[in-house]
Amino acid sequence: MDPNTTPPILSGDQAVQRLKERPRPWAKEYLAMYSSQLGGIVAEPWLMSVPIDDHVVHRGDGVFEASKCVAGRIYQFREHVERLFRSAASIMLEPPFTRNELEALGVAVVRAGGEPDCMVRIYLSRGPGGFTTNPFECPEPGLYIVVSKLHSLPAKAYELGVQIGISHVPSKSGFYASVKSCNYLPNVLLKREAMAKGWDFAVGLDERGEIAEGSTENIGLVDKNGVLRVPPPVNILEGITARRALQLAGDMTREGLLKGVEHGPVSLEDLQAAAEVMLFGTTLDVLPVTRLEGDPLAGGKPGPVAKELLARMRRDVLENPAQSTPALVQGAGKP
Ligand SMILES: Cc1ncc(COP(=O)(O)O)c(C=O)c1O
Repeated sequence: MDPNTTPPILSGDQAVQRLKERPRPWAKEYLAMYSSQLGGIVAEPWLMSVPIDDHVVHRGDGVFEASKCVAGRIYQFREHVERLFRSAASIMLEPPFTRNELEALGVAVVRAGGEPDCMVRIYLSRGPGGFTTNPFECPEPGLYIVVSKLHSLPAKAYELGVQIGISHVPSKSGFYASVKSCNYLPNVLLKREAMAKGWDFAVGLDERGEIAEGSTENIGLVDKNGVLRVPPPVNILEGITARRALQLAGDMTREGLLKGVEHGPVSLEDLQAAAEVMLFGTTLDVLPVTRLEGDPLAGGKPGPVAKELLARMRRDVLENPAQSTPALVQGAGKP
């Protein structure tokens, strides 16, 4: 920016023209968006925006969810909508719609996007209404639902496992960790550290020094006795994927493939001594971890529990009608 030039004062038409023409190559990933400001769905990325006086923009005052649609069906959509309502209740944000109405809107945006494989992100905000921290400035909540292309990790990541590092970015704890709010600065800094240090994922420590979670993923281990352990949902977000993985692991325990499943604290030493380590998350499903800051972890290759859990979760995503919406997009496969 040249400090000697004054920016022009634009007419509405000129501003719209500039917005339309502005290059945003990353936005070719965006398929459709519902905005409560528009009361409708748009498909042109230049129209996909949120007002600056929506308190979600300047204060992070809002909650969100990210779910995935695979082969035309949104996996565990009900559970994501449920968690959104729980997060909203935690920050005293009352959605002006029911769970069913929100699901129907999500389905309409996925249909408008027209792709059977996509990400569905829902943002429920405090809404537009001035620039202070006072939520009572805002007459009504805002709702934005964005559908974009789904990118899964390459098969190699699952075959070889990924590398994690331990971050010392101060983590969220207790209440703030349990609410999926739009305050994601600690998560952003965690991700930044991973990228800067060449790790695939960074995992944070909680205030007691226990292993907490990744930027947008949960962690679990199989100990030397064959028990799958994940940190209790106290200083972390209770992941929908991890919860489902624990249910599937319960089946594996009954079948004798695992000794048990438990919530329990995970220390760095536990991680280093584990038979297997894995990450859970909406886009990942179950991802084996085989390196810790350059050193081999859990024998340096994916173990049988992670492989079996991944296979069961992928079947659950593709073939279990009880866990997904009905097929929404033409060309979608049948369960
Ligand atoms: C902080 C955090 N932890 C864990 C997860 C994993 O949760 P889920 O399995 O519901 O995607 C997420 C998801 O985005 C997250 O943001």
